[in-house]
Amino acid sequence: MPKSIILKNNGGPEVLELQDVEVGTPGPDEIKVTNHAIGLNYIDTYHRSGLYPIKLPSGIGLEAAGKIDEVGSNVTEFNKGDNVAYASVPLGAYSQQRVIPSKIAVKIPESISYEQAATLMTKGLTTNYLLTKTYNLKAGETVLFHAAAGGVGQIFAQWANSLGAKVIGTVGSDEKIKIAKENGYSHVINYSKTDFSKEVLDFTNNEGVPAVFDGVGKETFLGSLACLKVRGMMISFGNASGPLDPVNVPKHIQPKGLYLTRPSIGQYFTNRKELQTGADQIFEKVKFGKIKINIFKKYKLADAKQAHEDLEARRLKGPVILIP
Ligand SMILES: NC(=O)c1ccc[n+]([C@@H]2O[C@H](COP(=O)([O-])OP(=O)(O)OC[C@H]3O[C@@H](n4cnc5c(N)ncnc54)[C@H](OP(=O)(O)O)[C@@H]3O)[C@@H](O)[C@H]2O)c1
Repeated sequence: MPKSIILKNNGGPEVLELQDVEVGTPGPDEIKVTNHAIGLNYIDTYHRSGLYPIKLPSGIGLEAAGKIDEVGSNVTEFNKGDNVAYASVPLGAYSQQRVIPSKIAVKIPESISYEQAATLMTKGLTTNYLLTKTYNLKAGETVLFHAAAGGVGQIFAQWANSLGAKVIGTVGSDEKIKIAKENGYSHVINYSKTDFSKEVLDFTNNEGVPAVFDGVGKETFLGSLACLKVRGMMISFGNASGPLDPVNVPKHIQPKGLYLTRPSIGQYFTNRKELQTGADQIFEKVKFGKIKINIFKKYKLADAKQAHEDLEARRLKGPVILIP
C-alpha cells in the first residue's frame, strides 16, 4: 500500500507520521500521480506547526513531480504516462502516490528531471511572480533579498541577474556568504552580525533600494523598511523568523510613501494555463543555463521529520527534496 505523511495534530517535527494510505481512483476532474520527488518548503513548517491553520487530520506538502497513473473522465489535457509537477493545495505532496485535481498540475518537459521539477515549482513560481509581476525588476536596478542562500534565495539572484539586475543578499552565517555569492548575489551581508539596513544604505550611497523581498518576516521587517528608498516597495512574502507585528502605517509607511504587499503564489497563477506558462518560463531558464539548481540534500520520505528539524534550525544551505 502507498505511504504518506499524515498530520493528526499540529506541533514540532515529531508530528510527521508515515502511514499506509488508500489512494482510490480519480474523480472526473482528477488525476492519480505516483510521485518521484517531493519539494520541501518552509511553508510546510507553518502548516505543521499550526501557524497557518489547517483542518486535521491532513496530509502535508504542496509540491512534487511524478508520473500520471490514471486520469478522470473529464480530463483532456493529460494522459496516463505524462510527467507532471504541482505546487498547490490540497496538501498531501509528502506521499508516494495520490489523487490531485488536474487543474493544479503542469506538464514537465523531457529536459527537466523529476528532482529538478520538484525543486523548481514552488521556489521558481515564487521567484517568477516576485520579480516579474509583484515588482517589475529592471536591468540596472539593485534590490535586497533576505535568506539569500535558501531555497527561493538561490533561484532569485540567478533570475534577477538574467534580467540585468543586481541583488544584495542577507544570510545568517558566514558559511552561507560563499553560497549566496555563487548564486549571483553581488553583495552579501551576514545579518546575524551586522545591521543589514545600515550596510544596505552605505552600499547604496544612502539612497536605499527600490524593493526589498523579505521572506524572513518578524526579525527583518522594520530593518527592511528602513533601507527602502522613497516610494520603494516592501514585498513581505514569508515569515521564517515568525509572523509580523501589526504595521504602524503613519510611523513606518507614510514618511517615505512606501508600498507594502504580502503576496502568495495562488494570487498570481490563478488557473492551469497561467500555471503552465509560469512553469514553462522557469524550465526555459534552466534549459538555457540562466538558472542552475544545486539540490543541497535529499531525504527519504520517511525522514521528513529530520528534514523539518534541519530546515527550522537553519542547517540547510539550499533546496532540499524528499524521495518517496
Ligand atoms: N508567499 C509566497 O508565495 C511564498 C512562496 C514560497 C516561499 N515563501 C516564503 O519564502 C521564504 C523562503 O522559503 P524557502 O522554502 O526557500 O525556505 P529557505 O529560505 O530555504 O529557509 C528559510 C531561511 O530563513 C532564514 N531564517 C531567518 N530567520 C530564521 C529563523 N528564526 N528560523 C528559521 N529560519 C530563519 C534562514 O536562512 P539564514 O540562516 O541565512 O538566515 C533559513 O534558511 C519562507 O518564509 C517561505 O514561507 C513564500
